[in-house]
Amino acid sequence: MAYAKALFFFFRLLLLINLLTVSFCDDAAVMAKLLAALSPTPSGWSTSADYCAWDYVACQSGNVYIISLASQSISGELPSELTQLASLRSLSVQQNSLSGPLPSFANMSSLEELYLDSNEFSSIPQDFLLGLPNLGTFNISDNDKLSPWQIPSYLAESTYLGSFCASNASIIGAIPNFFNSFPNLRNLGLSYNNLAGSLPASFGSSEIQNLWLNNQQQGLSGTIDVLSSMTQLSQVWLHANAFTGPIPDLSKCVNLFDLQLRDNQLTGVVPVSITGLPKLVNITLQHNTLQGPMPEFGNNVKKNLGNGFCNDKPGPCDPQVTALLAVAGDLGYPITLVQSWHGNNACNNWAPISCDAQGNVISLTLRKQGFSGTISPALANLTSLRNLYLNDNNLTGPIPESLTTLPNLQELEVSNNNLSGPIPVFPPSVIFSHGGNLFLGKNVSIGGSPSSGQNSDALIPSDNPLSGNSNGSSISGGMIVGVVIAVVIVVVVVFFVSYKCYMKRQHKMKVNVNGTTVSIEIKKRDIVDYGRTFPALEDGNISIPIQVLQKATNFFSHENVLGSGGYGVVYLGKLDDGTKVAVKKMKDGAMHTKGMNEFQAEIAFLTKVRHRNLVALIGYCINDNNRLLVYEYMSQGTLGHHLFEWEKHGFDPLSWKQRVSIALDVARGIEYLHSFAHQNFIHRDIKSSNILLSDDMRAKVADFGLVRKAPNDKSSFETRVAGTFGYLAPEYATTGRATNKVDVYAFGVVLMEIITGKKAVDETLPDETCHLVTWFHKIIRRGHNLRNAIDPTLDLDDQTFESVSKVAELAAHCTANKYFRRPNTEHVVNVLGPFAHKWKPLRPEEIEEKYGGLDLHMSLPLAFHDSSIDESLSFTEAQLNGHRLNQSAQF
Ligand SMILES: *[C@@H]1O[C@H](CO)[C@@H](O)[C@H](O)[C@H]1NC(C)=O
Ligand SMILES: *[C@@H]1O[C@H](CO)[C@@H](O)[C@H](O)[C@H]1NC(C)=O
Ligand SMILES: *[C@@H]1O[C@H](CO)[C@@H](O)[C@H](O)[C@H]1NC(C)=O
Ligand SMILES: *[C@@H]1O[C@H](CO)[C@@H](O)[C@H](O)[C@H]1NC(C)=O
Repeated sequence: MAYAKALFFFFRLLLLINLLTVSFCDDAAVMAKLLAALSPTPSGWSTSADYCAWDYVACQSGNVYIISLASQSISGELPSELTQLASLRSLSVQQNSLSGPLPSFANMSSLEELYLDSNEFSSIPQDFLLGLPNLGTFNISDNDKLSPWQIPSYLAESTYLGSFCASNASIIGAIPNFFNSFPNLRNLGLSYNNLAGSLPASFGSSEIQNLWLNNQQQGLSGTIDVLSSMTQLSQVWLHANAFTGPIPDLSKCVNLFDLQLRDNQLTGVVPVSITGLPKLVNITLQHNTLQGPMPEFGNNVKKNLGNGFCNDKPGPCDPQVTALLAVAGDLGYPITLVQSWHGNNACNNWAPISCDAQGNVISLTLRKQGFSGTISPALANLTSLRNLYLNDNNLTGPIPESLTTLPNLQELEVSNNNLSGPIPVFPPSVIFSHGGNLFLGKNVSIGGSPSSGQNSDALIPSDNPLSGNSNGSSISGGMIVGVVIAVVIVVVVVFFVSYKCYMKRQHKMKVNVNGTTVSIEIKKRDIVDYGRTFPALEDGNISIPIQVLQKATNFFSHENVLGSGGYGVVYLGKLDDGTKVAVKKMKDGAMHTKGMNEFQAEIAFLTKVRHRNLVALIGYCINDNNRLLVYEYMSQGTLGHHLFEWEKHGFDPLSWKQRVSIALDVARGIEYLHSFAHQNFIHRDIKSSNILLSDDMRAKVADFGLVRKAPNDKSSFETRVAGTFGYLAPEYATTGRATNKVDVYAFGVVLMEIITGKKAVDETLPDETCHLVTWFHKIIRRGHNLRNAIDPTLDLDDQTFESVSKVAELAAHCTANKYFRRPNTEHVVNVLGPFAHKWKPLRPEEIEEKYGGLDLHMSLPLAFHDSSIDESLSFTEAQLNGHRLNQSAQF
C-alpha cells in the first residue's frame, strides 16, 4: 500500500534527523564561567579537575544536574550562561552573598528546584521563570536588595509547583489569579513585600496548606472570604495588611492550627465556628475592628484577641447590641457603624441612635449613607423603636414582615432604594414611605423575557451557505481518511521519536558513596518522581558496601527501625548526600531457602521494573550472612497506618480525594506490572500494608518478594499459595491457580478498606463482619445501607457519596467470585481516573506510561515486516479518543 511505503520513508527520514540533532552542549565551559564568577572559589572546585568531580556538583554522563552551594559564604554574580546547563535539575545557592542581576532560567525544562534565598541579588529578568514545566520548588526569600518585580503570570505553566517562597523579596503588584493551575501547591510565602489588591478567587480551588502573606507595605485589601473554601489550610499568616469585611466561616478548615489575622481592618462578629476548629493552637485577632461577643477558646490555644468586643470576657452581648450588630451585618458592616458601635451599651454614643431614659433604642437613622445590603429582620427585636429611617441608600431585598410587629413604630422611611418583594401592611398609625423602589410590590421574574429570543433563529436562512452541503463538497471521503491517517501517523511518529530521544538520554552517573565510586544508570523518567530524586539501577544493578549501610543506619540502631515482619527488619538510613533510604535487612534464619528465593526474586524483578507507582530499589548488599535491600524511603508509611491506625501515628484521617488518588496510583502500579514488557507479572501480595505513601501522599506498591511471571504461553500458572489472608482470591486459595485477576481481587479488597476504614480481616469483630469482603458484598447486594458502611471519618457530601458509591461498585466488581467476571486493571484505571486529578495535564512520563508498550528494541523495518500494516492503520475512533494506542506498538 502506498501509505505504508510513504510511512516507511517518513520514518527513516525522522530517524536520520533524530540522529543528526544530538546536541553537543558543553557544560564544561559553563562550569568554568561559574567557577570564575564566584569568590572565594568553592572548596573542592578547580579548573584543573573535571567539573563532575567537584564537590557539590553531580553529573550524569558529563552533564551537570545538581549544583548545591548553600551556605558557602560565597559572593559574586551568577553567570548568564548558567541557563545552558540543559540537564540541571537542582540549583541551590541559598544563604550566600551573591549579588548582581539574576540570570534568566527560562526554558530550562529539567529544572525542578531553585533555591536563591538569603542573598543580595539586585534584579530579576522579565523571562526569569518562563517555560519551566518541571519546577517544583522555588525560593527567593530574603533578597531585599532586589529591584521591584511582579509575580509573572506565565508561571501558570509550571503546573508542578509545590512551593513558591518569595518573602522579603521586593515584589509589587497583585497576586495573580492563577492558582487553579497548581494542583500540587502547598506552600505560598509572600510575606514582607509590597503586594496590593485582594486575595485571588482561585485560592478557593487550590490545595494550599501554608499561606504566608503578612506584612505587605501598603497592605493587601478586600475580604478574606476565600479562606472558607481553602479546606487544606493549616497555617495562615495574613497579619499586618489592610483586609476588610468579616471573618468568614472557617469550619471546613479542620487542619488549621495557626491563624494570624491581627493588624487588619476586619469587622463584624467573629463566627462562633472558629472556636470549634479542632487543631487550632495559635490565633491573633487584635488591632481589627471586630465586634460582638468575644470568642471563647480552650486553654491550649495561644491567643491575642484584642479588645473590640462587647465584653472583655466571653459571653453574649446585650440583646439590643446583638440586634444592632445583626443590622450592621446585613449591611456588610459598614465602617462608619463599626467605628462608633462598640461596647455593650447601644445608648452610649452609638452614632445614629437615640434612646429613651430607660436605655431603650427608640430611633435609628441610616438615611443617605450609600449603604447596600438588606434590611435585617432583627430590627423587630428593638421593641421600643419608634422611628426608623433607611431611605436614599442602595438597599435590596424585601422589607421584613417582622417589622409590622414593632409595637411602638411611628415612622418607617425606606423610599429611594432598590427594595423588592411584597409591601408589608402596617397599622394605620405608622407613617410608611416606600416610593422610589422600582421593584417593590411587583411580581418580577428576573431573567425571563420570553418572547424575543425564539424568532432570531428563523433569521438564519435554512440553506445557510456556511452550514455546508455534503454533496457539493469538493473534499472526497478518501481524502478525509487520508488526512486523518496522516495526522495519526504524524502524532505517533512524533511520539515515537521523542520517546527515542528520551531513552537516549539515559546516562551513567558516578556516585561517590563514602569513598567508593559506584556507577549508576540514570533514566530521566525514573528521576522525575514527584520532585524526589533517586538514581535508578542499571540492568546489572548495584551492590552497596555494607559499611555504607552501617553508617547510614547508625549501625542498624534501634532508633532507626521503621518496621518489621516475618522477613526481617526495615531501617531508616541516611546516605552521605542526605538522601533518606529504607534498608530492609532480611532475618538471618530467613536466608536459607524461601527467604533467599524471595530476596533474589525481588532483586531480579526490581532491577528490571521501574514505575513511579512501584517502590524503587536503590541497591542491595550481600555480606556474610546479611542480605539487605535498599529502597527509596517513603516518609508517610503504609496505607494501612493511615486507614486503621491514623490516631496512633498522629495522622489525620485520609480525605476521600486522597483515598481515590491513592487507589489510582496503586491501580496504575499493578497495571504496569501486569503488562510490563508484554509479559504478565503477578504481584500476589497486594494489601494495604504493602502500599507505601510518599511525602505528598502519592502511593507506591512495595514488596515484590512474591512476584511471579506468568509463563509466556499462558496467563495463569499453578503455584504454592502465598499471600495474605483476607486478600486471597477464592480460586487461588483453593487451587493455587494464579492469574493477574488474583491481584485485581486483592486490589478490590484494598478498595473496600479505603471505603470502610475496616481491615480485610478483623478478628475483634463479630463473625458476620470480620471478613470484609463477605460483609461488603452483603451491603452492596442489599443496596441501601452503604452509607453506614462508609468510614465515619469521611466527610460525606452528596458528591463524595456518589463517588464513594461508584468506587464501592468497582470494589465489588474486582472481588467477583469468578475470576473471569473481574475487570482487568486497565479497566480499573479507567474507572478511577475521572475521580482523581481530572484537570491534571499529563507529564511526559505519564504519556509514556499511558501509551507504553512500544518495543524499542525491535528494529524498525522488522517491526514493519512483522505486522500487518493495514491493520495498524485502522485506528478506530475510540482509540483516538484517548484509549491505548495498542497498534502503535507495531511501528
Ligand atoms: C529581609 O532580608 C534581609 C536580607 O536577608 C534581612 O536582613 C532582613 O532581616 C529581612 N527582613 C525580614 C523582615 O525578614
Ligand atoms: C504560636 O505563635 C507564637 C508567636 O508567634 C510562636 O512563638 C509559637 O511557636 C506558635 N505556636 C505554634 C504551635 O505555632
Ligand atoms: C431576636 O430575639 C429573639 C427572642 O429573644 C431571639 O431568639 C433572636 O435570636 C433575636 N434575633 C436577633 C438577630 O437578635
Ligand atoms: C435593583 O435590583 C434588581 C433586582 O432586584 C437588580 O436587577 C437591579 O440591577 C438593581 N438596580 C440597581 C440600580 O442596583
